[in-house]
Amino acid sequence: MIRVKVPATSANMGAGFDCLGIALDLYNIIEAEEIESGLKITIPESDRGYIETDERNLVFISMKRLFDEVGYRPKGLHINLINNIPITRGLGSSAACIAGGLVAANELIGCPLNKNDIIYLAAKMDGHPDNVLPALIGGMTVACIVEGEVKYVRIDLPDCIKLLVMVPDFQLPTSKARAILPQNVPLQDAVFNISRAALLTASLITGRLDNLPAAVDDRLHQPYRKGLIPHWNEIMSKMAELGTKGTFLSGAGPTLIAIMDKDYDKIRTEMDKFLAAFEQHWDVYVMDVCR
Ligand code: HSE
Repeated sequence: MIRVKVPATSANMGAGFDCLGIALDLYNIIEAEEIESGLKITIPESDRGYIETDERNLVFISMKRLFDEVGYRPKGLHINLINNIPITRGLGSSAACIAGGLVAANELIGCPLNKNDIIYLAAKMDGHPDNVLPALIGGMTVACIVEGEVKYVRIDLPDCIKLLVMVPDFQLPTSKARAILPQNVPLQDAVFNISRAALLTASLITGRLDNLPAAVDDRLHQPYRKGLIPHWNEIMSKMAELGTKGTFLSGAGPTLIAIMDKDYDKIRTEMDKFLAAFEQHWDVYVMDVCR
């Protein structure tokens, strides 16, 4: 039996639509072994009804994709899944299945593919590298797909950085949150985002945390998606008032994430109280980066 631990991730980080991502200290576990025949997927009782346990399961689909890629046919497969990443909340639950499934399959058959092969396969399966890459290598990642490979850099963030992760009690499918985006954007919006994504990356590398609230601003996706998140403006104002270093929609949403460099528990308590006034329930966590 092999065991793979794969982190939750947050894509975009505001301005870095489809290219920036960060791994969080929250993990799914995938265990897998080859058996004599058939497919057996086991999950905890509490996940029944939420996670498929047949050939539609995304971990299985990803493992099969790797086996097909290298021409391996297992006799049968047992997969055991322990999921902690909330599903369809913008925390990379699908990317964790893809990244974890590919790594598990590769390890099970003696690692025929190297790390970059797996990164490229995962990015192709997910459609963009901003969740699968941090899921595979941790930290904060900057990536783009160029002619059959993923060009990327992993950035180690300052130790003081923690994330306030606010998860509402409703799901938002990525397909719905992508469908509302325009196919074309004005040049000034593209410039707005390029400058901020570059500023965010450079500021995190050099420790210029004072730049972050401005650097996470975005015109490519959040202005269109914020209507899907109740009380967006009030929450953003409150986060700024509490002195966080910028708040953004996590991936396609609906989770919101704020960067913090101090007062972590105080901010969490304040936001917990603030969000309790709204009709949706929000779970609020302080999370470390998966470093
Ligand atoms: N970059 C993607 C998006 C992440 O924002 O749609 C979610 O898959």
